[in-house]
Amino acid sequence: MMLTALILAQGSGPLLATGSFLHYPYVQIGRPEKVANELTLMWQAPIERGRWEVRYQSSRGIITNLAEFNRVDTTSPGFLNFHTELTSLAPGKPFKYEVWKDGNKVFEAKAKAPVQPKQKWRLVAFGDCGRGTAEQAKVSYRASQVNGDAVLVTGDIVYDLGRVSEYETKFWTYYNGSVTSPERGSQMMRSIPFLPVLGNHDMASNDLTRYPDGLAYFYFYRVPLNGPKLAPDSPLTPNAKGTGLNNFLSAAGENYPQTANYSFDYGNAHFVVLNSNPNVNWTTPELVDWLKKDLESADPKKWRIVSYHHPEFQSSKVHATDRWMRVLSDLLVKCKVDLVLNGHVHNYQRTKPIDLSFKPLLSTSLNANDWKVDQAFNGSTVTKTDGVIRIVTGGGGAPLYNPELEPTPDKWLPFTEKYHVQYSFSQLDFEGDKLNFKQIDLEGKLLDSFLLTRKPKN
Ligand SMILES: [Fe+2]
Repeated sequence: MMLTALILAQGSGPLLATGSFLHYPYVQIGRPEKVANELTLMWQAPIERGRWEVRYQSSRGIITNLAEFNRVDTTSPGFLNFHTELTSLAPGKPFKYEVWKDGNKVFEAKAKAPVQPKQKWRLVAFGDCGRGTAEQAKVSYRASQVNGDAVLVTGDIVYDLGRVSEYETKFWTYYNGSVTSPERGSQMMRSIPFLPVLGNHDMASNDLTRYPDGLAYFYFYRVPLNGPKLAPDSPLTPNAKGTGLNNFLSAAGENYPQTANYSFDYGNAHFVVLNSNPNVNWTTPELVDWLKKDLESADPKKWRIVSYHHPEFQSSKVHATDRWMRVLSDLLVKCKVDLVLNGHVHNYQRTKPIDLSFKPLLSTSLNANDWKVDQAFNGSTVTKTDGVIRIVTGGGGAPLYNPELEPTPDKWLPFTEKYHVQYSFSQLDFEGDKLNFKQIDLEGKLLDSFLLTRKPKN
């Protein structure tokens, strides 16, 4: 029954549309595991008949695509969720695209094609953002000014529950609105892909009886479907349930539950995104085996970056006990991960490189003596790490946590190197085996910076 409904809900082709966009077009990395010379363009529109086409500059000249869509009926009114693949792009170069409806141009923008492994590139990262605050708009605006190639959102993308209706008021206008300004935010999403990480708030609307428009995460992003294969009713998923379940599964299609965990190569880096929510036990063999295999088979010439929402190494009092991801700590070290990016805690924190643990990882303690910490790394003259640096970049817009600890390093846990309670974002410049990391606040002021050298993988 479900499969039939899914097929009926999807399609491509000449529906006639007369209405406007619900959400302006935006680029995504799409589903290739190795992001090379293509992107996916998405947008949402009211359910009306219409013929939607995309014309874009490729390295082979102008290409015209007929957009595909599927229908989402879990909201009232429902909407059409469009996508089309933009292929044969010139690596690392800006290109123009246009969206046409019924023979009329209705949208145009410039986007940036993915870089090749030998090209330098810039990642922007922040989390805990979609709260509808003035600071969220300022972070978005400031981050848009650094001309990045992609944005990683480290979870809690939209508060409080990650519903479609909450995206309307706390997300789209901040990152893909009609203007770019410190008061209103940016239009970044139409030019560079946002990479989502599932936070606790993003899955808080999993009871679809109460929230029929819940779990919007699984509608609005197109990322690789290469995570561990989990049945929709597995306890290791975001646990969608309720009377709206079949409607949701039809509308989310292959994204649910697959896109809660995924990996991809962009430029000279391999990224792994994990669902760290507390219902997911990361000692489960099917999850651990997938992660280990993914990291071990990653290109040894590339950076290994892992991102998940809940940090296990951080010094704030808020969320101090949400440290269940420490069960993966030794695996990340053994698999030569270069950097971990987290959110959840609403400030900026950087650890020293943390090496293997001395205590069983299932222990809940986090005593300083449980861990070997690399004291030699200084991020300027010593840039190779023995262990893994953890970044909390949770200053994307939601109210900040524990500012009273900033001036008192003696109260930080011993592995913490930097602690800044400011709205801010991370800027990561990848060039060969060097990564130049910066944390930048709302005024463009540097809160932190360090240089990292990529670990030898063999
Ligand atoms: Fe969170």
